[in-house]
Amino acid sequence: MEAEIIDSRFLRPCGEETGGAGVLPFTMVIFGGSGDLSRRKLMPTLYHLHGKESLDGFTVIGFGRHDLDDEAFRGSMKKAITEFGDEPPDDTQWNDFGRRLYFLSGDYEDDAAYRRLLELIERISVRTGGAIDVIYYLAVPPEVVPAIVEKIRQNRRDNEGLREKIIVEKPFGRDRASASALNRLLTTAFREEQIYRIDHYLGKETVQNILFLRFSNAIFEQLWNNRHIDHVQITVAEEIGIEHRGSFYEQAGVVRDMVQNHILQLIAMVAMEPPVGFQADFIRDEKTKIFRSVRPVDRKYIDTSMVRGQYGKGMTGTEEIAGYRQEEGVAKDSCIPTFFAGKFHIDNLRWAGVPFYVRTGKRLPKRISEICIQLRQLPLRLFGHTCDVMEPNVLILTIQPDARISLRFNVQYPHTAGQIHAVDMKLGYRETFRTAIHPSYERQILDCIRGDLTLFVRQDSIEAMWEIVDPVISRWNECGPDDFPNYAAGTWGPEAAKRLIEQDGRRWITG
Ligand code: BG6
Repeated sequence: MEAEIIDSRFLRPCGEETGGAGVLPFTMVIFGGSGDLSRRKLMPTLYHLHGKESLDGFTVIGFGRHDLDDEAFRGSMKKAITEFGDEPPDDTQWNDFGRRLYFLSGDYEDDAAYRRLLELIERISVRTGGAIDVIYYLAVPPEVVPAIVEKIRQNRRDNEGLREKIIVEKPFGRDRASASALNRLLTTAFREEQIYRIDHYLGKETVQNILFLRFSNAIFEQLWNNRHIDHVQITVAEEIGIEHRGSFYEQAGVVRDMVQNHILQLIAMVAMEPPVGFQADFIRDEKTKIFRSVRPVDRKYIDTSMVRGQYGKGMTGTEEIAGYRQEEGVAKDSCIPTFFAGKFHIDNLRWAGVPFYVRTGKRLPKRISEICIQLRQLPLRLFGHTCDVMEPNVLILTIQPDARISLRFNVQYPHTAGQIHAVDMKLGYRETFRTAIHPSYERQILDCIRGDLTLFVRQDSIEAMWEIVDPVISRWNECGPDDFPNYAAGTWGPEAAKRLIEQDGRRWITG
């Protein structure tokens, strides 16, 4: 069953369309300009925005330790766009895009490099009303962030007329204490409204749509509470492994890499109260309240209601996959988890008694991210006595690989006398709106240029999120797992993850 657009107003959004004109000229300085994030995500995104004519009058300066000149940088970015963009760059567009790219080779701790950077910004940037809009993008490993922030602060001259913003990638610290130290440092150089802490899950179309679905539909908002919802499940499954990031992952593990940020943000989008308005801080206030309402977990709870896993070797299709401990940069006896499953409770009036089950992991059978909201069963069963099972109603928000919303409900199977059958009514974004879904970085980069902080994370949320996961990380550090690796690559994680939900009389829906 496909949903149809029933009102042509949907085709002419009444709000401002993402990617429209009206973006001020700016200079983006990408620290780690020739690195992985820049090549895979940032350059293809900027190129795509430029192609849609959403961007004009901009320059991009890659800053990094590599010894590259502008031409070599341009060549390498063209290759990256060919490899990671939607389609290979076309000559006319590339000529205009490529000439806007520059590279400055330097050490992150070298004052002279920052002075050269400021001179370059001054020389090549377009001025707007006496000021130059500069966005610093920190696409670097966390350990070099402090040096960069400090050097920007020290080498800045008051008379430069820069209007600055800074985009900071996760991880924001390693725990609550280091996140707050990082923030102290950032706020010595920037004001809170200049700091864009990016979580790219917030830029995903279906994630943004959770708020629209909830707060603009009577059918959902009135059911969105513990009187009608039985439980919520979130699965963020990845088919890929750690992708040559062994040394990073050994420091991070699944809790820091996925749970502290992406997963908790998804919980907040589902659970938050209606904001006072749609301005950034109203939404961020409500999310922070949710993080503060998540019930703290102690050792006993972690041992019984949270599951960790690490993949061993396995198969996907006919391909043999190495185990985590065989990956480059990973210790042969590593105890770092690549899988997490757990049950969270939100102690507020709306959610008391409704468990939130989450699971995420690497090397699972497929790439799929879904939020499933299962409704309570009716108190009385009138139909379908011939069949033991009556499926509960479930609202499924599929974030990827396709963006989709499905509602599962029961009907009578044709030509039977009362046999209940569950069907899914689906809204596929691509088919319904006949448009491709924009990758997350696109929306968030545009928002940063425009100065909209809604899809970025505020410091109080970051600290509250660390408070939720810090005890889990500490507990798992203090007692090593004795069964790692405990799931084969290409499977749905350790058996204990299944038991976690099944012991409550429920089952994972995504699969
Ligand atoms: C990143 C993690 O934040 O998100 C990666 O560091 C993970 O380990 C990635 O693979 C998943 O993002 P997406 O958009 O592919 O689901």
